[in-house]
Amino acid sequence: MREWTREEKYRYLKDPQELSELYQKVSSSVWRQSYHNQAVTGLMNDPNGFVWHDNRWHLFYQWCPWGAVHGLKYWYHIVSKDLVTWKNLGICLIPDEADGYDNKGAYSGSAMPIGDKIYLYYTGNHRDENWVRRAYTCLARLGNDGWPEKYPLPLFGPHPDYTEHQRDPKIIKAPDKDLWYLLIGAQTKSKDGCALVYASDDLQHGWEFKGELKVPGYEHFGDMWECPSVEQFGNQDVLLFCPQHLTLPGRGGSRNHNGYILGTMDWDTLTFTPDGQFHVLDFGFDSYAAACANNLQEADRAILIGWMGVPDVSYPTDEEDWAGCLTLPRELTVRGRRLVQRPLPELKKLRDERIIMKAGDGGCYKLPKAAEIELDCRPGDVELDFFTDSEGKGGVTIRYDEAKKEIVVDRSGMKLTFNEEEGFSRTRPLEAGLYHLRIFVDASSIEIFVNDGDAVFTSRVFPTEEEHHFRVKGDVFPRLWTLKPAVRDHFLI
Ligand code: FRU
Repeated sequence: MREWTREEKYRYLKDPQELSELYQKVSSSVWRQSYHNQAVTGLMNDPNGFVWHDNRWHLFYQWCPWGAVHGLKYWYHIVSKDLVTWKNLGICLIPDEADGYDNKGAYSGSAMPIGDKIYLYYTGNHRDENWVRRAYTCLARLGNDGWPEKYPLPLFGPHPDYTEHQRDPKIIKAPDKDLWYLLIGAQTKSKDGCALVYASDDLQHGWEFKGELKVPGYEHFGDMWECPSVEQFGNQDVLLFCPQHLTLPGRGGSRNHNGYILGTMDWDTLTFTPDGQFHVLDFGFDSYAAACANNLQEADRAILIGWMGVPDVSYPTDEEDWAGCLTLPRELTVRGRRLVQRPLPELKKLRDERIIMKAGDGGCYKLPKAAEIELDCRPGDVELDFFTDSEGKGGVTIRYDEAKKEIVVDRSGMKLTFNEEEGFSRTRPLEAGLYHLRIFVDASSIEIFVNDGDAVFTSRVFPTEEEHHFRVKGDVFPRLWTLKPAVRDHFLI
């Protein structure tokens, strides 16, 4: 694995042409996705600032241009009219080399569209000459010309009672009040993860520290909370966050999680009262830092997009100097005491050719590079193997065991393994049995939606040339479509 020096990691991009050779190399990778967003070169991580504005969806993501390394981060801007086909608009927030408050990266944040501007709240990751870090909460205003105007001073600096880990501002409108909140992911001095709350009646000024968000029962739950957010779906409040550096039952060796708690948010007492336990958002291996579009009211539905990747992990594409992509957008609803995630209905537009296959006969079929398979399942065991060789061996296995009433996703059969420390399989009980599956395959990923969004497994996979077959066994009714390309990752910096 390549070792990066600090200079290489934090090198500033002066001229887009510096990346053109890298772009040529990256675009020739067999693992480039065809309908998932990915960076033109280098590393993509968290989605940021997801909003509907000026008749299109705007989404930004964390981008380090030089390779698969968490170095200097920019915000890269993409847009879509339908959340299916996306266009690159190029770099948006650029770290300010001349000792700006974000001199070592424009880190994650969120956005709020007001009038003809989008307000971008982000973390200025600042380091001094002794490499001491201070995190500033910064603001930029994006006009319809696409150019961000950064405010010269941050809204506030790091709170002295917490460690250097303070980041990922989420802008939230107070329900029924002319008041705004910023929720910041943080770490207490005794190394517990938490979220801090700031408030102001003006988006641009007067931010005041209100206190730490109280979440009874979750005072010692991971040592840092990244990307916290409180969302409201109908009458239901949801706290979404990424607790770090803890292991959880059923999650193998994973130490970074993206999950949620349903409950009730009281902004006056800064208390989120859980109604139920912490659940992971996704049961697969590679999903983190998911963000909801920030104008639920206007768009009238809750849409979530995540980073299809996790921190502290190397991927096979690291060697090719790129890593990461975004998940498909999902529509969120609350069913019972759980969040349900369904692929957006718009994604049906991607369906191209319908491939006729026999029901669950166990025969081996050629797997298109981009495909969707939908299955209705009758009671009984079901086994699907994707990315097998031409004899149906190996690959990713999805196995439903009727006697145990559980579904297992196992990627140990892939020739190229990675991130072994986190384990090879993930299990989820299905009390009501298995009745439906929708599976999206792209060149290097698989997203499995179980029982109409009741559980999702999102994982990267890196098939070799031989691993492009699949088979289905069980009393099922499968339908398969090839999918059209949907991201134009043309070179635009
Ligand atoms: C989450 C995260 C954020 C941070 C960003 C930096 O993956 O670590 O907490 O702002 O990535 O790229």
